[in-house]
This record gives sequence, C-alpha cells and structure tokens, in this order.
Amino acid sequence: MFPSPRVLALGLAVLSSITSGAAQIVVQPEAFDIGVSSYAFDLSQVTLSDSRWKDNQDRTLNYLKNVDVERMLYVFRANHNVSTNGAETNGGWDAPDFPFRSHFQGHFLTAWSYCYAQLGDSDCKSRAQYFVEELKKCQDNNEVAGYSDGYLSGFPESEFSLLENRTLGNGNVPYYAVHKTLAGLLDVWRHMGDNTARDALLALASWVDWRTGRLTYAEMQSLMETEFGGMNEVISDIYHQTGDEAWLEVASRFDHKAVFDPLAENSDELNGLHANTQVPKWIGAAKEYKGSGNTTYKDIAANAWLMTVNHHSYSIGGNSQSEHFRPSDAIADYLLEDTCEACNTYNMLKLTRELWVMDPEDTTYFDFYERSLLNHLLGQQNPDSDHGHITYFTPLNAGGSRGVGPAWGGGTWSTDYDSFWCCQGTALETNTKLMDSIYFHDGDTLYVNLFTPSVLDWVQKGVRLTQSTDFPQSDVASFVIEGSGNFEVAIRVPGWVDGEAEVEVNGEGESVDGTPGSYLKMSRSWSSGDEVTVRLPMNLHVVEANNDSDLASVHYGPVTLCGMYGDETLDSTPSLSLDTIARSGGEFLVFTAETGDGSVTLGPFYEAQGYNYNVYWAVEGDLASIPSSDERRRR
Ligand SMILES: *[C@@H]1O[C@H](CO)[C@@H](O)[C@H](O)[C@H]1NC(C)=O
Ligand SMILES: *[C@@H]1O[C@H](CO)[C@@H](O)[C@H](O)[C@H]1NC(C)=O
Ligand SMILES: *[C@@H]1O[C@H](CO)[C@@H](O)[C@H](O)[C@H]1NC(C)=O
Ligand SMILES: *[C@@H]1O[C@H](CO)[C@@H](O)[C@H](O)[C@H]1NC(C)=O
Repeated sequence: MFPSPRVLALGLAVLSSITSGAAQIVVQPEAFDIGVSSYAFDLSQVTLSDSRWKDNQDRTLNYLKNVDVERMLYVFRANHNVSTNGAETNGGWDAPDFPFRSHFQGHFLTAWSYCYAQLGDSDCKSRAQYFVEELKKCQDNNEVAGYSDGYLSGFPESEFSLLENRTLGNGNVPYYAVHKTLAGLLDVWRHMGDNTARDALLALASWVDWRTGRLTYAEMQSLMETEFGGMNEVISDIYHQTGDEAWLEVASRFDHKAVFDPLAENSDELNGLHANTQVPKWIGAAKEYKGSGNTTYKDIAANAWLMTVNHHSYSIGGNSQSEHFRPSDAIADYLLEDTCEACNTYNMLKLTRELWVMDPEDTTYFDFYERSLLNHLLGQQNPDSDHGHITYFTPLNAGGSRGVGPAWGGGTWSTDYDSFWCCQGTALETNTKLMDSIYFHDGDTLYVNLFTPSVLDWVQKGVRLTQSTDFPQSDVASFVIEGSGNFEVAIRVPGWVDGEAEVEVNGEGESVDGTPGSYLKMSRSWSSGDEVTVRLPMNLHVVEANNDSDLASVHYGPVTLCGMYGDETLDSTPSLSLDTIARSGGEFLVFTAETGDGSVTLGPFYEAQGYNYNVYWAVEGDLASIPSSDERRRR
C-alpha cells in the first residue's frame, strides 16, 4: 500500500539528513486527495540548472527581492485605517482608486513562498513573513476600520454588499482579489510553516464562510455572474490543508451552475464567456472531486480541459481573444493582436497538472503542458528585463510582436510599479514554479514529464537524478543517477516524436518501446553512475487552424516557429511554401523559407521578443523532410 502523506513526511525528515535538500519546514496536508495515483515532489526537491528556464526564474527573483514592500502594503493599510508609513502609492491595477486593487499582493506571497521552498532563500522568507505580519495588523484593526471580523483587502467591505445586491457598477471583482490573498497566505503557511499566515488565512476564510452563509442558493448563483477567481479552488485547498470537511461545503457554494451544468454534460457553451473567469472554476472542480469524491466535478474539469485544448486553443497553447472564448474551432477567424491572455494558460497548466495526477498514463496532458509553457509562457517574459517583465496578451496577428503595441493590449511590457495586471501576477508564479512539473512519482515509478536541465533529490529513495540537456535546441536528454535503488523510470515520449524515441543506458542501446504518445518505461535496480540517454527525434510539421486547413503554423518538435520580420509590418497573412523550408547554416532551430514576398528566417517563437513576427501562414505545398538526427549533438 502506498504510504500516507504523513508517513512520507516522516521519511522525508529522516532522509533529508543524508541529502543536501533546502530548508524543509513544510506543513503537511491533513486530507488525502481522492482519485490521485501520482504525486508531485516537494518544491525543495527539484532545482533548475542553467537554461532559459532558470534565466526566467532569476529575472523574476530579482523583481521579488527588489520590490518595495511598503508600497505593496499601501492599499491594505489605507483601507484598514493603519498608517501607510509615508509609502508611495502604486499605479496600474494597484492604484488607490483602482477597483480591485490588492489583487496582486497574493501573487507576491505565493512567489516568495516558492522561492523559499525551492532555494531556502532567507530574503524571500523575511519579505513574506514581514508582509504577513503587516497584513495581520490590518486585519486586527477591523473594528476601528468598521469592517467585519476577518475581512482583509484593499477596498471597503461595502463592495461586497453591492456585489450581493447586484448594484456593483465600478468594475470591481472583489472575490477575485480575495482569492489571491487567500492563496498567498495559504502558501506562506504551508511552504514556510508561518503560523501568522495560517491565522490570517483562517480568519479571512471564516469571513467568506460568514458572508456567503447568509445568502440563499439563488443569491449566490446571481453573485457569481461577477468574476470570482478560484474561490472554490482555494477553499478546497483549505480543506485539503486542514482536513476540516466544513470547508468543502463552503467551497461548493462557489459551484457556478450556469457554467458547470453544460460542462458536466460535455456540451461546449464556452463561446462568448470571459475565459479567465472560467478556468479557475474548473481547477476548483478538480479539487472538489479530490476532496469529496463526487465524480461530477471530475467530469466538469476533464471535459472543460478537452474542449479548451482541442477546440479553443491556438497552436502555441494559449486561448481566448480579447479575453473571451470564441466559437468552437474558429481559430482562423481570431488571429488578432489581443489573443492568448497569459493568465488563461497559467490556469490551464494548473488544471492540466490536477488532471494528469489522476491519469498518469495519458501523455496528452504533458504534451499540452510542454507546448504551452515553452511557446507561450516562457516567451511571455522579456529577456531584456532584469525584473522579468511580461506581456498580457500574445498577439497572433500577421506581423504581431511582443513588447511593442497599444496600451496594455498587444505587446506592451509590464513595469515595476505601474501595471500590476493579472498576467503580471500569474507570471510571478509561473516563473518561480518552473521546477514543479518536471518530475512526479507514485512511490515506485519516477515520471519524467518535461525536458530541462535540473536536479531531482528523490530523498524518499535516497537517489539523486541529474538531467542534462539543451532541449529543445537539441533532441537529446541524459539522466545520471546517484545512489542506488529499485524503481521504474517512465519518460514521456511526446506525440510529436518522429518515429520512435531511442534510449541508451550507459552507452548501450536498449530495446524499449518508445512509441510517441506513451511513457517509455525501464524498471531495474539502478546503481550510482548509471546514465540514461533518450533521443526524441523531431521533425517539421504543421498545425492547421482548426477550421481552415490552408492556414497553419509551422513547428519543429515541440517548438512553434515564427517568421522573424524585424520592424517590417505585414498587411495580410503571408503565404509560405512549405517545400522551401530548409535548415539555416546547420543551426538546430533556425530555418529559411520562401514566402509570396521573398525569403524569411524562421526561428523559435519563444525567443521572439521586441520585433515583428508571423506565426500563422497561408501554407502551400508539402513539407520537406528535415531530419532531426544531428550527430554532433549526440553524446
Ligand atoms: C483612521 O480613520 C480616521 C477617521 O476617518 C482618520 O481620521 C485617521 O487618520 C485614520 N488613521 C489612519 C492611520 O489611517
Ligand atoms: C445595495 O447595498 C448597498 C450597500 O449596503 C446599499 O447602499 C444599496 O441601497 C443596496 N441597493 C439595493 C438595490 O438593495
Ligand atoms: C455532485 O456534484 C454535483 C455538482 O455540484 C451536484 O449537482 C450533485 O448533487 C453532487 N452529487 C452528490 C452525490 O453529492
Ligand atoms: C470557422 O468557424 C467560424 C465560426 O464558426 C466561421 O465563422 C468561419 O467561417 C469558419 N471558417 C472556415 C474557413 O470554415
């Protein structure tokens, strides 16, 4: 029988003394997840090595460690009648008059927690702990401020009265902001063992319970016409953490019937809905299933994932245009400047992970995760910004660009103190949890889901695994094992693999089934120094816009390629002769091709920042075969 989380925690404590893991003060959850058969590692067990991923993380860490926390506290303190210490105010979505100011701070709490959990970083820890102490002072001043017990936010509690009686007309989404604060406090509690965060969390959650417990079912359903983030998700997480089943009932008050019922029936009624308002509800549904065992919730989450991935997503993995779902399969009609709001992809990746742990034989989940993380979210960050600034949308119009564009649409980069968009908040989390979905386990099997240089300390087995790779600039990844033990290694063979994955153990070819769309499995007694090398042959392929086979993007392995147009503007979708695509100068991911208007260089879309690009083409002809095998890159 698989050991309980508590037994595992005990094992962790004993074994961590023989490995060099980061500080480990994780508060273990009290409740089991129903239906789960594979598990993430603790954040402290996986470390990124040098790569684009780590560069992204380092830039975001700079921002986390440089941001002025007094400024970030301003709206909470001003709202709770506590001195603002003469701090400057913020602009953008945290300005003192912005309706849902204080939505952002929870993202900082979560990102500081990830930073600490992963790296044992004392700066991130002290910032989070100070921030939480100051938030607690705000919450403790509620009587003076005229608020109910436990309330905590940057805007008056009266906004909730207006929300409840449906007269809130200022664009505020008050539960959206409260969700972020709850999630941040929960992370500081569970990743740092901080009891002040626990107390502030449970007080705020109890306020939610009181506030919503007074309403009828119909009043709750009506209130949920206003965006409310992942309230069902975070309250389910509080159940998971505390084991107190009363929270499951509170979470279920946020079951949005108008959205859940069609999904339970697998009926696609997403057209016209605000996309990022929905995805967090689906993550919540997955967690409500894991808490309650009610399979309707699982159906809702799984159906929503399939619908969105197969019928509402662009080839880079993002969805939505102008923040909204459009008709099913209508990708070709919505290639505009304001496609792919980044939050939606952040949330879809969270949903993907929730679903995969219940169904770990299915590789399509991490095929989607890989394509979206690589092509959309890694490229969302500006490599020229040492504070990891990002774009809100990722334009897919002909000649679009990241970093140049109108207002906060198109491609404008975020700033330190004048944006605070939702997508800037979720990017803080994305870029501080890049290590959380590379490896998973079920006690006996080690799953490798993503390819990036990293080190896994599998303390429960007394084993360390080092992954080295230039992926996706190379199609080879190697894994060196330190320590010894009996276990199975299961490596995802992506659906895009050309032919079959090839594997060598200690330099000798192994005959193992490497069929694309399966896990390549090797079970044995491993010894220190054993090296597994896999090759995932890539080829050129096109991904057609769902209902227009003449319009397509070009990919090499997992990588979306784009035309690099510099400052040239495009008036219409360029044509591309597929049979002219050739590798440029031997560089793995750089190609040239002929368009209707001269030749163009094609490079990885995730590296296209600050210049005009093209992703979808009017395609002609058939692809030439460009083999992946690049002997110079093989070990
Ligand atoms: C608290 O509220 C009172 C009454 O509005 C106001 O006079 C006082 O300046 C406030 N104090 C702080 C620290 O905000
Ligand atoms: C809604 O609630 C607010 C705040 O309590 C109140 O001022 C307002 O009169 C209410 N409106 C309606 C239509 O009930
Ligand atoms: C399961 O959840 C659905 C969706 O909220 C609900 O309609 C149904 O009554 C629940 N079933 C049980 C047995 O609780
Ligand atoms: C794609 O779907 C949309 C929405 O259903 C429709 O308006 C459009 O005409 C379709 N395009 C093609 C090429 O079929």
